[in-house]
Amino acid sequence: MAQNANPAHGGSTAEPGILAAHDREDLLVGDDVVRFKYYTRIVHWSVGVSFLICLFTGFPIWTPYWGWMAGFFGGLNVCRWLHAWSGLAFAFFGALQFIHWVGEMALSEADRRFIAPSNFGKYLSWKTHDDDVGKYNGGQKLLFWTSSLACLGLLLTGVVLWYPGEFSPMLRQVSWVLHDVVFILLVLLIMGHVYLGLAEPGTLMAMIKGTVPRAWAKLHHPKWYRDVTGDKRG
Ligand code: HEM
Repeated sequence: MAQNANPAHGGSTAEPGILAAHDREDLLVGDDVVRFKYYTRIVHWSVGVSFLICLFTGFPIWTPYWGWMAGFFGGLNVCRWLHAWSGLAFAFFGALQFIHWVGEMALSEADRRFIAPSNFGKYLSWKTHDDDVGKYNGGQKLLFWTSSLACLGLLLTGVVLWYPGEFSPMLRQVSWVLHDVVFILLVLLIMGHVYLGLAEPGTLMAMIKGTVPRAWAKLHHPKWYRDVTGDKRG
């Protein structure tokens, strides 16, 4: 349950919030709301970095058109083993992230409303406002489920491609197609995710410092804001 905390440390108003974000989240410290503790951020950035290594070592393996990228990693042979091992790291951190967040990602009635096709136009024109949006909106929860599923799909098909001698030609063929299709869908999804993370002022800092200003919380996640602050007017 969310709580208030007194700024116990000196310094600027933002500092106590950042310090509290070492090991706690969902609490109000001065003018900041603690959104992501250290562990959440470390796991998320481990997912992000391992995903990017996978992506850029995967491009030159995928098609000679992107072959020039292999030069950044020391050649195609390096890309082949680095891709497989960073893939394992991506799956490992993806699993940690899944375990950490799964309890908060069930879709509520408000989330279903948020992601309803009729809301889509408003969403694209930044006009959605729903007082019932909690810590994560329906779109974020959907990203959680789809990216976790994609991570599992890439792991399973990747293992088949890594040990071609161990599996039937049919399974190898299916895995090859699925690996590419899932990879393309995930890249599109993450492009949208990164865009939203960078385009909305204050959002990226939530994953860097761990805190957001009150106004950000109130605007994007009004129910979460009310739960954390106890402010019924929201
Ligand atoms: C590599 C660049 C990435 C950036 C810049 C980025 C940025 C962010 C930010 C700023 C948040 C917090 C949003 C909020 O406070 O509401 C977030 C949350 C999240 N990220 Fe990422 N992320 C990246 C990569 C990834 C990858 C590769 C995945 C999964 C495969 C992922 C999955 C998630 C999920 C499930 C959440 C929680 C739900 C949400 O807020 O959308 N992220 N990310």
